[in-house]
Amino acid sequence: MKKQIAVLRGDGIGKEVTDAAIAVLETIGRRFDHEFEWKHGLIGGGAIDETGQPLPDETIQLCEQSDAILLGAVGGPKWDQNPSHLRPEKGLLQIRKHFELSVNLRPVKAYQSLLAVSPLKEDVAKDVDMVIVRELTGGLYFGEPSHHDDKNAVDTLLYSREEIERVVVHAFELAKQRRGKLNSVDKANVLESSKLWRKVVEDVAKRYPEVEYEHTIVDAAAMKLITYPSTFDVIVTENMFGDILSDEASVITGSLGMLPSASLRVDGFGLYEPVHGSAPDIAGQNIANPVGAILSAAMMLRSSFGLFEEADAIEAAVQKILEAGYCTSEFKNIGREVLSTTDMTEKIVNELEG
Ligand code: NAD
Ligand code: IPM
Ligand code: MN
Repeated sequence: MKKQIAVLRGDGIGKEVTDAAIAVLETIGRRFDHEFEWKHGLIGGGAIDETGQPLPDETIQLCEQSDAILLGAVGGPKWDQNPSHLRPEKGLLQIRKHFELSVNLRPVKAYQSLLAVSPLKEDVAKDVDMVIVRELTGGLYFGEPSHHDDKNAVDTLLYSREEIERVVVHAFELAKQRRGKLNSVDKANVLESSKLWRKVVEDVAKRYPEVEYEHTIVDAAAMKLITYPSTFDVIVTENMFGDILSDEASVITGSLGMLPSASLRVDGFGLYEPVHGSAPDIAGQNIANPVGAILSAAMMLRSSFGLFEEADAIEAAVQKILEAGYCTSEFKNIGREVLSTTDMTEKIVNELEG
């Protein structure tokens, strides 16, 4: 199989972890006889510096000509005081909107070998295996009006039935293929948008009698997520709630650096990126955990290219290396061997090469 992949490394550790994902995909290409052609483009702070735009037209064109997008992360203190339309994060929001990447999958899985570093008790963290399905192109992030002055500020939380339905249908389909449990998270006791959200979930649920579903109010969901996380299978929620809950859930695995994500258009075209950001505090030191980015590459193979065996191989290699006792620097002082970003990547690559 031959595929063209747009590579947007972005800022900070985004560059380091994307290089790791490319190294792993190159290995998959050699082992399974696929050809990946990399087309690099600018996004975020680096793009602002070079072109004056967080998402230059050239990058959009490059992505349009590609079969999938691999992204690192954007942002950093250098651009934090920029006006909203010239912030690196705007580039990320624009690319999600431009390509209608409305369904964001964020799987959270506990690794037996890392249970000891979870801030939760081992007993609570073990067996965690859930997917957070986050609506990604609507809600507070995109509603108009949105502005502030010194006295007032406004953000708009707007959802149409169609926007809710497409992500909810995806979540029911996923739950059907998994353990058949769906949790829809909202704030229907207060928000009008959540009332519509709940109605749509009720309507879609009629088409999926085999899926057991439940509504949970977001504040209670935040509590339940760390009280008994292993009871969750699929969670579906709106944009902002999904952003917050996925960072919360990530620490069950011991580190935000472990979490991958896929942002999908309804026809399967996708952007793949780790859940974490550009981590300015550790950027440029070759110590970032590349696992979230590497597992995002596995999600790309599975979701966009249908390469199931190849995706499984990456996930198995990551698991093997973690179980062998290796980790990256955020896990220091737990008596395991700490590797740099590049050494961790090499271990996974060697494991894949067999
Ligand atoms: P962050 O995710 O970058 O970092 C949070 C903490 O987690 C930091 O202590 C960091 O060192 C650690 N961390 C994150 N990824 C890690 C990894 N792979 N290995 C080891 N440790 C890791 O969040 P932040 O500090 O709030 O944001 C920094 C910048 O990134 C901001 O500009 C923010 O807007 C941006 N951001 C971008 C994305 C994205 O591009 N998708 C996501 C989140 C934040
Ligand atoms: C994420 C990030 C982004 C978001 C920011 C950087 C715009 O936190 O991908 O989770 O809030 O969606
Ligand atoms: Mn986030």
